[in-house]
Amino acid sequence: MRGSSGTPAVTAQDLELAYGTHTALCCADLTIPGGALTVLMGSNGSGKSTLMNAIAGLVDPVRGVLTVLGKPPPPEPGSVAYVLQATAADALLPVTVHEIVTMARFARRGFLGRLRSADRHAVDQALATMEIETVSQRRFSELSGGQRQRALVAQGLAQEADVLLLDEPMTGLDLVSRQRIIDVLRSEREAGRAVVMASHDLDDARLADHVLLLAGRVVAEGPPEDALAADRLREAYGHRYLDLDSATGIVDDHHQHGHGVPAARE
Ligand SMILES: Nc1ncnc2c1ncn2[C@@H]1O[C@H](COP(=O)(O)OP(=O)(O)OP(=O)(O)O)[C@@H](O)[C@H]1O
Ligand SMILES: [Mg+2]
Repeated sequence: MRGSSGTPAVTAQDLELAYGTHTALCCADLTIPGGALTVLMGSNGSGKSTLMNAIAGLVDPVRGVLTVLGKPPPPEPGSVAYVLQATAADALLPVTVHEIVTMARFARRGFLGRLRSADRHAVDQALATMEIETVSQRRFSELSGGQRQRALVAQGLAQEADVLLLDEPMTGLDLVSRQRIIDVLRSEREAGRAVVMASHDLDDARLADHVLLLAGRVVAEGPPEDALAADRLREAYGHRYLDLDSATGIVDDHHQHGHGVPAARE
C-alpha cells in the first residue's frame, strides 16, 4: 500500500496556503509519515483545517511544493478520506446515516459504479466499529452531535483510504466514544495508513507518533515530547499559554468555540 510505514504520505516545502489575499499557512516545510498517527495542534485559525484542505486537494498552494502519496494534489479518487469538522458537515442533512457512510465507497467506485459485497462489508464494518448500526436508518439531521460525529468518522473509515484526515473528530464525544476513536485510529495506523488528526487536546497529541504544531506556520514538528515542549507551546499559543509553575501549564484559548480548554502537564 502506498503511504505505508517509512514512506512519507505528505511532504511540503516552502508551502503557502491562502484564501484570496489572506495567508492561512506560510513557508511550511513538513512531512507526514505513512503508517503513523500525526496530530495537528494549534490555536483557532492556526491553519490546521487549511492544511487538511490542501492535502485533500480542496485548496491549491499559492507557493511551494506539496506532495500527497508522491504526487501534487488533487489525490487520486478515494485515496484520501476527509472527515470534516462537524460544524462544516451540516449540508449532509437530508440523508440517512447508512447513506452517508455508503457515500464513502462511491469515492472509489465513482457515482455510476455498482457497489459490490466488499463495499457493503466495509460499510457494515464501519457502522459497527463506531457503534451506530442501530441509528443507521435514521436521518443524519436527527442524530445527537456525538452520533453525527461518529457517523462522519464511520464514513472516513469506510473509504479505506491510504490517507485518513480527521478534523477534530473527538469534539463533543463521550469518554467511551473517544477511546473507541483512539483505538480505531491506532488500528488504521497498524494497517499502514497515514492518519492525520487535528485536535485541541494535548492528551490526544501525546498519543501521536508525530506532531505538527501550527500557528500560521510550522512552529514545531516531531515526536510529541519534542514538538509539545513548553517553549514550543508558548511560541504557538503566545500569551494564552500560561506557565503556572514548573510542573503545570495551561493553554487557555478564549476564542475557542466549544473545544474545551486543553490542560498541559509536563
Ligand atoms: N474559507 C475561508 N475563507 C477565508 N479565510 C478562511 C477560510 N477558512 C479559513 N480561513 C482563515 O484561514 C486561517 C486558518 O484557518 P483554519 O480553518 O485553517 O484554522 P484552524 O487551525 O483549523 O482553526 P480551528 O481550530 O478554529 O478549527 C484563519 O485565519 C481563517 O480565518
Ligand atoms: Mg479547523
